[in-house]
Amino acid sequence: MSPPRPPRLIEDGAALQVDLAEGAARFHALWLRDNDPGPKTRDPGSGQKRIGVCDLDLETRIVAAAWEEDRLQVRFAPGDFTSVFEAGWLAAHAYDRVRPRTPGWTPSHLKLWEAKDAENLPVETFTRLRQDETRRLAWLDQIRRYGFARLSGAPLADGAALEVATLVGFVRETNYGRSFDVRVEVAARNLADTALGLEAHTDNPYRDPPPGVQILVCLANAVTGGGSILVDGFAAAQALRAEDPDAFGRLARYPARFEYAGTPGVRLQAKAPMIALGADGELLGLRINNRSTAALTDIPYDEMAAYYAAWRRFAELIATPRFRLGFRLEPGEAMVFDNLRILHAREAFTGAGARWLQGCYVDRDGLYSALAAARGERAWAT
Ligand code: FE2
Repeated sequence: MSPPRPPRLIEDGAALQVDLAEGAARFHALWLRDNDPGPKTRDPGSGQKRIGVCDLDLETRIVAAAWEEDRLQVRFAPGDFTSVFEAGWLAAHAYDRVRPRTPGWTPSHLKLWEAKDAENLPVETFTRLRQDETRRLAWLDQIRRYGFARLSGAPLADGAALEVATLVGFVRETNYGRSFDVRVEVAARNLADTALGLEAHTDNPYRDPPPGVQILVCLANAVTGGGSILVDGFAAAQALRAEDPDAFGRLARYPARFEYAGTPGVRLQAKAPMIALGADGELLGLRINNRSTAALTDIPYDEMAAYYAAWRRFAELIATPRFRLGFRLEPGEAMVFDNLRILHAREAFTGAGARWLQGCYVDRDGLYSALAAARGERAWAT
């Protein structure tokens, strides 16, 4: 069915206004010419662009536009060039809209959670995810939306983390190797010994960029305690903003410093805010890790005390039961989480026996690419 009204040229042809299913939207002539989907502009095979910004005439105007069914035909001058756009593509890429204004906003597909909201998310099995592509994509989509997913039935053998990684994307190798072990043997004669708990943190804030996704597989857990905890850091960050926008702003505005030099020949350093916002204010990621925070030297003297107060308040919020989703990982169980959004923690443990987790890192882009490809989106159209 054709849209109800013909397109209207506005601003002397420098733009046009069209009615789409979602409402009216304006598009600039320059933008439309640049995004021409035809073979002169886009390589039909790869979808990659064949023109550069210097090929665009800044005086480009629309001289005619008309709907043919659900396709918009647009003729440009100079050059008498014609493009055809599908209404669905225009609707998906319309930029003439009200934008989020609050710093720290998150896109609508992200489901921010408190502990009570995330308790009943499904736990998939390793074999089923291997065999059923639809289930694997749904599981990956849970990681995209909620920031984490769990599974059971992982191989109980060295290499398990890398096996689970094949379900998610491409392994990010670091100086800790392709995978790493978190292993503690509690000697029977020291039953009272407590393997220390770990505060909620994101891993490796001293890297640029930090690892995107972390996989932790449990291979042994004979101890008492040692529960795993996940916190939606984005939910906690938005709670901080709601409570004290200035505190949120300080953690986003000033760079912190992170360092790891615990291995000979390694000195990893990064300078980045604890709360990273995009240029349009979108909440992009967190770097929260007490053990790796170096001396902060990029905060003005007059702001330092307030910065510490903000940092401390954020840490207090992260530590409240409201945000702490706790569960015990049994052998063969794994958790996969977005390391820029989800903080992880470990409760202290005691008792004789072994606790052995094996982990690895995976880039986020492979996961997002698999999901976008499954939705049938062309790479250049996302
Ligand atoms: Fe960690």
